[in-house]
Amino acid sequence: MVDSYEMFKEQILKLTTIDLNSYKERQMKRRIDALIAKHNISSYSTYVTALKNDKAMYEEFVTYLTINVSEFYRNPEQWEILEKDIYPYLTNQFGKKLKVWSAACSTGDEPYSLVMLLSKYMPLNQIRVIATDIDKQILEKAQGGIYNDKSLKGLPQEFINKYFTQLSEKSFKINDEIKRCVEFKNHNLLKDPYPDSCDLIVCRNVLIYFTEEAKMDIYKKFNRALKKDGILFVGSTEQIIQPQTLGFASHKSFFYKKIGD
Ligand SMILES: C[S@@+](CC[C@H](N)C(=O)[O-])C[C@H]1O[C@@H](n2cnc3c(N)ncnc32)[C@H](O)[C@@H]1O
Repeated sequence: MVDSYEMFKEQILKLTTIDLNSYKERQMKRRIDALIAKHNISSYSTYVTALKNDKAMYEEFVTYLTINVSEFYRNPEQWEILEKDIYPYLTNQFGKKLKVWSAACSTGDEPYSLVMLLSKYMPLNQIRVIATDIDKQILEKAQGGIYNDKSLKGLPQEFINKYFTQLSEKSFKINDEIKRCVEFKNHNLLKDPYPDSCDLIVCRNVLIYFTEEAKMDIYKKFNRALKKDGILFVGSTEQIIQPQTLGFASHKSFFYKKIGD
């Protein structure tokens, strides 16, 4: 690009409230430059003007920037640990009605998976999962609840049979009874207030994109958002180094328990 990325970051913060300084710079800049080049634009300032005037381009940018790949029961072996080990532990500590938050939920695969898992142990009308993401467009998609067969590949067949209507060979719609259990909200992990008194926070495959500093700050806020002995469930490449310094103890791989108050 012919002009400065520093200036571009400031303009993007004003336009979208997304602070690119908190994302790993090399990786993010490479992605953004590739996207801009696709539009045959050679300066950041021209691109920012285009984003201001073209709604489709703006939405493409936010969606691209936020990388929202997801799937149901992503890394199924960890969902098995969640069901067989973490769920009994949590109900033992806090009772059956758990406060669960899926942070950076993307297309909804994760919060809907949580509802399905919980539905094995309690009636749907008692299940409530908070699901948040920075990307408003992706939240609309999540609420629409239509998925292709690839995003369902890790989900136990019993749930597909029970909770989806097949629309075509590769397209499935999630039933309203599951949708009703999820409360979707727009939320920026870097700047918005967090929910409190959570029993379980699931935040997977987003912190990898943040700088160390932003990540540490988010872990601390997750810690405050949890009840004592509550659990944080992270992604398969996101193990926390020295969790004790952040008020966590490793409970199982990818699951951390809040220690202290
Ligand atoms: C790769 S998806 C992860 C989806 C799901 N958690 C999973 O593991 O399958 C990353 C999500 O993080 C969201 N995201 C990125 N930055 C965010 C921020 N600052 N606050 C909240 N969500 C953010 C993106 O919009 C995207 O939907």
